[in-house]
Amino acid sequence: MQSPRRLIVAITGATGVDYGIAVLRLLRRHGGFETHLIISPSAIRTLAEESDVPLAEVQALADVRHPFKDIGATIASGSFRTEGMIVAPCSSHTLSAIAASLGDNLILRAADVCLKERRRLLLMLRETPLHLGHIEHMAAVTRYGAIVMPPVPSLYTRPQSIAEMVEQTAARALDVMGIETEALHRWGDASGREG
Ligand SMILES: Cc1cc2nc3c(=O)[nH]c(=O)nc-3n(C[C@H](O)[C@H](O)[C@H](O)COP(=O)(O)O)c2cc1C
Repeated sequence: MQSPRRLIVAITGATGVDYGIAVLRLLRRHGGFETHLIISPSAIRTLAEESDVPLAEVQALADVRHPFKDIGATIASGSFRTEGMIVAPCSSHTLSAIAASLGDNLILRAADVCLKERRRLLLMLRETPLHLGHIEHMAAVTRYGAIVMPPVPSLYTRPQSIAEMVEQTAARALDVMGIETEALHRWGDASGREG
């Protein structure tokens, strides 16, 4: 039997929880994917600090929700087929733990599975400024096959609001994952607004 197209979305405790929410909303609008969501306890804290979106509403955007500590979840196994994982936003803590191949929570385990199964893993790392440890961990995960994509907005798209800027960055991340959503503005688009 053919597996459905599945994508894992993880939200960690870096500022920018809205990036994860935007990724989930775009995937829902796009359709065609079974989304699997994991939210770290620190992300629940940042959500409360910086967003008006209730946790239940974020969770309802996903098809399947996994407890952070459930290292026995489906997505903890390489035999469970997925098309990869986006960590949006990705904290420096989670980056460092992925670089060390740790797996003591489901976000880390699922990310490690993506790397070992040679599936796409995109980390929207949000930390600034960076010390050499962060940079070395970025280099390490890149060598292991991950894509580090800090959520840096493209201002030449002339976003009219923060929400638009966040959505455009989320659409670009999905594009890097091979998922083309209608929200993405490409350079040379007829709209004249590039991405
Ligand atoms: C409001 C708030 C904002 C934070 N912003 C960041 C950030 O931008 N980048 C980062 O690496 N950590 C940030 N942190 C710290 C992380 O939440 C912390 O290191 C945590 O252990 C990360 O755990 P996790 O990777 O399991 O989510 C922030 C914490 C809070 C409370």
